Parts: sequence; structure tokens; C-alpha cells
Amino acid sequence: MMKDRIKIISLLHDSSYLGKQLTIYGWARTVRDGAQTSFIALNDGSCLSNLQLIIDKNNLNDNLKDEFNKISTGASLMAVGRLQESPAKGQSVELVVDSLKVLGIAPSDYPLQKKATSMEFLREIAHLRGRSNTFGAVMRVRNKVSYAIHNFFQSKGFNYIHTPIITGSDAEGAGEMFQLTTLPLDKLKGEVDYSKDFFGKKAHLTVSGQLNVEAYCLALGDVYTFGPTFRAENSNTVRHLAEFWMVEPELAFCDIKGNIAIAEEFLKYLINDLLTNSAEDMAFFDQRIKPGIIDELRKVAASAFEVITYTQAVELLEKSGKKFEFPLGWGLDLKSEHERYLTEELIKGPVIVTDYPKDIKSFYMKLNDDGKTVRGMDILVPGVGEIIGGSEREDNYDTLLQRINQCGLNPDDYSWYLDLRKYGSVPHSGFGLGLERFLMYVTGMANMRDVIPFPRAPKLCEY
Ligand code: 4AD
Repeated sequence: MMKDRIKIISLLHDSSYLGKQLTIYGWARTVRDGAQTSFIALNDGSCLSNLQLIIDKNNLNDNLKDEFNKISTGASLMAVGRLQESPAKGQSVELVVDSLKVLGIAPSDYPLQKKATSMEFLREIAHLRGRSNTFGAVMRVRNKVSYAIHNFFQSKGFNYIHTPIITGSDAEGAGEMFQLTTLPLDKLKGEVDYSKDFFGKKAHLTVSGQLNVEAYCLALGDVYTFGPTFRAENSNTVRHLAEFWMVEPELAFCDIKGNIAIAEEFLKYLINDLLTNSAEDMAFFDQRIKPGIIDELRKVAASAFEVITYTQAVELLEKSGKKFEFPLGWGLDLKSEHERYLTEELIKGPVIVTDYPKDIKSFYMKLNDDGKTVRGMDILVPGVGEIIGGSEREDNYDTLLQRINQCGLNPDDYSWYLDLRKYGSVPHSGFGLGLERFLMYVTGMANMRDVIPFPRAPKLCEY
């Protein structure tokens, strides 16, 4: 960083800068050229607020005049001047400029002009959209949430485990994986000999770090992994990405009840952290993106989440008389429309759904004594639907082997995972929170492609 650089966020919160000569760097958001005075609204990305630069036309020296004439919306510059209290509404301080230096001009085709720019348009210029108010706020909040995720688990003594991105096993047994190969695809004919591939076998991008992190859970106790995950499901929806970030804690000596309790505590911690540490950006979302979101989040953080079983959820939905596009009934998976109706209309708040039929959930979820349901749990929130999926894990070797076989998976592929139940197995549980789903929920942004810097989705892999 330039030695003398003061960030705008610092001077807005520290009155000792008043009256001092300061050096500020940033990008011009707007330029207003008046007869006596000109104004530049400068943003440096450190916060949502711009700093108003005041240029006194009566005091223009040649340098100031030349440099000012080069500045238009989008230009980057350095300004030196004195910070004073602002008589104008909407800002506390302003900088009376003594000298200016343009670092990079922005010609008139700069796409982010003041006129309203739609989300669709901004999506097409993902390399520049971070300079808009909305995307600046989204990325700062994303940063703060990521930091809070680490803080939460670190403060509870969890160890952060870096699980692999490249995997030799299909973690969930669900398919939908991106295959990774160095074989020359355009020259391959007939059956492929994977022994000649880079790893000597098929390899994929991970869909979840869970199975790997379980191994370290059964060594270090409480652990978590937090990183990018990849799903090749062809879901071209506003709630799915092909590359998204997931945080997956795994707790040793913990059953489904403990898992539910920590998941609820975790979500409330993240919400409270956001309301405290991202107040300016959250106020922006409350005013411009989803009016009422701050009050809603405050209420959510202060009240107990409803917990219902899958069976109760199906009953509630059936009794509601609502017509759904997808069929509903015990044994069928809850679709997004069902989940949203449940959380938005019936429960009117976050809801934790437990004890799903085993046939619609992953092989690793612990089987209940009824032999029909598993100790899984999903957390659903209004506006988004599922943001967390988790379970107590099957810790009995024989039952797990049986479930692997029943699900049509090859036990040889899971021999290492079965070993965790063979040697010193313990009850353990965990869950996965999709970072982008959480961000959609707390910011009110309607499309998941707008809460990640460079989205990847079917037919979308720009930059
Ligand atoms: O419910 P899922 O598939 O659970 C797992 O992957 C488990 N291994 C987690 C665990 O127990 N450790 O996914 C967990 C969460 C979902 O609730 C959702 O928030 C998010 O990951 N998610 C997606 N986010 C964006 N795009 C997608 N395609 C997503 N698929 C899942």
C-alpha cells in the first residue's frame, strides 16, 4: 500500500483526521463541474460511502486544472487535501483538494455510468461490477461472513482441515461430478483406459469435503473444511451454481441433537456478526435490495428455530391444500417449491426438518431404529429454501456396508471410509452450509450468480 494512503473507511470513523492534510486514492464515481466549485465523489472500495472531494475553481493552479479535466466517472486518482466537516447533507466530512493526480483515465465508454444498471447487465461485466455499490457491498459482506465462519469454529476449538479439491471417490455417491483428465479427449476412441490417465484412475472435482473431513474428525475431534465445491448438475436455477463454497463442520462424540444445536447457534452467530460488523452494507441491502431484511434477521437471531420431522412436514404441506407443480407424499423428496412454502407460508421463519426417509438421502446418514428413516436434517429459510444439509453419520460398520450395497455403490471404493467405522468408531455428526445460499438469504439478492465474484453455471464460464 502507498505509504501515505488513508482509506476512506478509516477517516469516516476517526475524528482525529479532521483538519489534517490527507492523501486519498480511489475511483471517481461521479464528477460534477460547477461554476465556482466542482465535486468528485470518490470511492476506494473500503466501504460503501464515497468521500466528496471539493475543488475550488477560484483556487485552481495549472496542475489541478489539467488533472481535473482528465477525470470522468471511473477514473482512478490520488487526491491530497484537507479534511473538513461537510455542511452538505448525507456526508459527515469532505476533502478540500490541493492537488490531484490521475492514475488511470476512464474513457466515455466506461460501462458503469451513473444511470441505473440492471443486474443482468452487470452480470455481463463481472470484471467491473465490483465497482458498483451493490457488488461492492456483496463482496465486502462475503468477506466478513467468511471471516466470521472461521471465527465461530476457531473460538470453539475446531481445527480447519484442507480437504482435497481433486478426489478419487464420488463423495456423495450421487454422480453429478466434473471429471478431470489429461487424456487427449479429441483423440480418444472406444473404451477409455484410465490407467493411462494422470492419476492412473478416474478423478473428479469434489462435490463435498465431508468424507475426507470425517477422517480427521475421528482423529482431532471437532474439525471443519471450508472451500470450493463443484457440482455438474444441470440445474439452471437462481439457487444453483456449478462452483460454490461450502463450510462443513464435523463433530466427534456428537449426535443429531448436538448437530442441530450447533447449526442453529452458528447461523445466529453469523447473522449477529453481520448486523454488527457490516452495518453500513446491510443498511444498503435493507434500503435498496430487500426492505425489512434487517428486522427479519434480528428476529431470526432472537428466536428458537422450529424443528419438525419430514413426516410432519409432508402432513403440513398436504393439509395446506396448496397445489404444487411437483408431487408430494411420504417417501418423495421435498422440492424447492415445497421447502419454500413450508418456511415462507406455513412456519414463517427458519425451520429444521429431520428424519427423512432413507431412500431419498445419502448412504452415510445414520439409520433410525425404525429402519425407514435416517438422522438427517435440512435447515430451510424464507426466500431461499435449503441452506444447510447435514446428519448424524452411520457409525456402525455393518449397517454402513449394507447401506453402501443397497445404494448400488461399490464397497471397494469406500474401504477407507469403512475403516473409520472399523477402528475406533464414534458417534459423529456434521453439516454443510452453502456460502452463496446464506449470502442470498442475508442480503436479499435474488440470484446466486450475484453473490459470487465470477459465477460458474451451465453454459457460463467467462473470465
Ligand atoms: O445438502 P448438501 O448436498 O450436503 C452435503 O454436501 C453434505 N456433504 C454436507 C455435510 O453434511 N457435510 O449440500 C449442503 C449445502 C446445501 O444446503 C446448499 O446450501 C449448498 O450446500 N448447495 C449448493 N449451493 C450452491 N449451488 C449448488 N449447486 C448447491 N448444492 C448444494
